[in-house]
Amino acid sequence: MSKDYIAFFGLAGPAFSKTIPADRIYRYRDLEELHCYLSHAVSDGAVAALTGPVGAGKSTAARSFLAGLDPNRVAVLYIGFTASDRGLFREMARGLGLAPAYLKGDLVVQLHTAIEHVWLNKRRQTLLVVDDAHLLPDTLLVELRQLLNFQMDAATPLAMVLVGQPALRGRLKDPMHEALAQRTPVRCTLVGMSRAEATEYVKTHMDAVGGDPSIFTDDAIDLAYQHAKGLPRELNNVLVYALIRAAWHDIRIVDRRVVDETIKAQTQG
Ligand SMILES: Nc1ncnc2c1ncn2[C@@H]1O[C@H](COP(=O)(O)OP(=O)(O)O)[C@@H](O)[C@H]1O
Ligand SMILES: [Mg+2]
Repeated sequence: MSKDYIAFFGLAGPAFSKTIPADRIYRYRDLEELHCYLSHAVSDGAVAALTGPVGAGKSTAARSFLAGLDPNRVAVLYIGFTASDRGLFREMARGLGLAPAYLKGDLVVQLHTAIEHVWLNKRRQTLLVVDDAHLLPDTLLVELRQLLNFQMDAATPLAMVLVGQPALRGRLKDPMHEALAQRTPVRCTLVGMSRAEATEYVKTHMDAVGGDPSIFTDDAIDLAYQHAKGLPRELNNVLVYALIRAAWHDIRIVDRRVVDETIKAQTQG
């Protein structure tokens, strides 16, 4: 007997995966609204702060937004967390196709010049996205703000999206970051999905791997939803292990009991 849930349920690959293709990402209402605000921040050359608890879907939301941008108009620099300012600036330089200067002062000048060049000569705006930005040191947040200073009037060569946990909002309230806060008119928070959206979410992920969403009963999703408080990563964790448990026990339908046992197993001890 096969114990592999993927084969057992006839799926094309692992379910509830973090590598769900960008065009399959579920665009629930808050995500659509977020995209709208981010689009305005980009065209205004402003800063946007996208915050929410761990596993709320922030990085995925940023990914779906970026996938919709026209690469001829916006050059995207996506930086995962780096603790050092030079590390971040170097990655930006590489993203712009440059060999990074060694000294930080030179690096900043290099970036400024390149971003201006891209704007003036290629008519492309640069968008810097920094993920896990709540972990950035204060000095680096200040330096990022300084990067936004351009000589040209009414030009918006650089926009930024800072993605991070709720602590990022607190950091922006610190007087030290008032200048950055003033450049951050867009502040959006992801807080999870509604119960109805969770059903669509399950369908999206099951469809992505050619699975049948009705493997999950409504009351199974109810329980997973309550446990996960509507947050996608926790929903994934419960539902994929419920599939594994069901396959192991030769159960074709994941009902409330399977989800209940999965949650108990995951939270005990
Ligand atoms: N809108 C969505 N559509 C499909 N899957 C999603 C969506 N949002 C989140 N997920 C799933 O939840 C997981 C966690 O989301 P992630 O964006 O990494 O959270 P965060 O960055 O807030 O910690 C992702 O790996 C993905 O599988
Ligand atoms: Mg993330």
